Amino acid sequence: MKKIVTILGARPQFVKAAVLSRVIKNHHQIEEVIIHTGQHFDANMSEVFFEEMEIPKPTYNLAINSLSHGAMTGQMLEKIETILLDEKPDAVVVYGDTNSTIAGSLAAKKLHIKVIHIEAGLRSFNMKMPEEINRILTDRISDLLCCPTDTAIKNLQKEGFDNLPIKIVKNGDIMKDAVEYYSQISAEKSSIIADLDLNKNEFVLATIHRQENTDDVENLKSIFAGLEEINKDCKVVLPLHPRTKKILEKNNIQPNITLINPVGYFAMLELLKNCTLVISDSGGLQKEAFFNKKNCIIVREETEWVELVENGFAEIVGSNQTKIINAFHKFKNSEMDFNLELFGNQVGESIHQSILILLTK
Ligand code: UD1
Repeated sequence: MKKIVTILGARPQFVKAAVLSRVIKNHHQIEEVIIHTGQHFDANMSEVFFEEMEIPKPTYNLAINSLSHGAMTGQMLEKIETILLDEKPDAVVVYGDTNSTIAGSLAAKKLHIKVIHIEAGLRSFNMKMPEEINRILTDRISDLLCCPTDTAIKNLQKEGFDNLPIKIVKNGDIMKDAVEYYSQISAEKSSIIADLDLNKNEFVLATIHRQENTDDVENLKSIFAGLEEINKDCKVVLPLHPRTKKILEKNNIQPNITLINPVGYFAMLELLKNCTLVISDSGGLQKEAFFNKKNCIIVREETEWVELVENGFAEIVGSNQTKIINAFHKFKNSEMDFNLELFGNQVGESIHQSILILLTK
């Protein structure tokens, strides 16, 4: 049996790994060992996902968090290398664009272990974002790039990846499988809509955590001023990321909206299904909005998921208060047809197949 080591660390990676781990378990062809770097560590940022989504318990938890980018990545690199020398896997699987992604791929590559990057080829073309640096470097040192969209494939082609000994496959977006699989279960298991006394289509779901927004207090104030204005018309519910919470407290910003603690995947799905629309700077939530037939107002200057904007499902507004409010009025009563095939189907199965082909070569 072939062996892979999966490196996880941050919330969106738990969602993606839940899908592939289930497929791997069902097929009995690959043994999976999980390393949790510890990047996200609060129970409601980590544990809840493992429990709800039945992700296998990590064999290793490195407890590396709350450090600068260099220190965090460096410590992860050192510890992951030690484990890989011991486990001797056939390949390492990394997801997305976090510090855990680059640490895992770099440790593996230097040991001549194959690297599989899931959610490869995405670009924001903003090199100030730590995520952009992480994803470009990870793509370049991978052996198999599992791409979610045609745009991702084109991005790689433009960068000359066709001339490199790297296998590039379009599998689709693995988060779509998660939404489909857990949608029914979340309705049974989560009571968040009743708990918060919310009504269907009568609230906006918002999240803000990107460094480019949280590290610029003027941007942050402008975003929250926009959300407060919208809240007068339609209740705004915002599960607060620990990074944003710290910065709001430090700057004594107390927005008059419904702030709640970070929620698990089931509650998030229920909020998505029942909201009017989404306002967010998250990458994953933009697509989760689409999968749940909701428009998304993107509080960033660019997006990696350009097909959402090109097809009118989402709009980029940056941190500009007026643009946020205008986009809300544009989308609040819109009844768009979301039945467009943008992100593939049965993505977990497709990625599993691609991994098997790579490992049996
Ligand atoms: C990371 C990823 C980002 C991803 C996001 C999802 C990088 C560079 N960024 O950003 O791509 O979109 O995760 O959420 O890897 N914190 C807590 N409790 C937790 C988790 C974090 O208090 O459970 C604190 C940390 O101590 C830190 C801050 O929140 O001060 C930010 O966490 P960090 O891991 O640096 O990155 P994220 O902003 O979560």
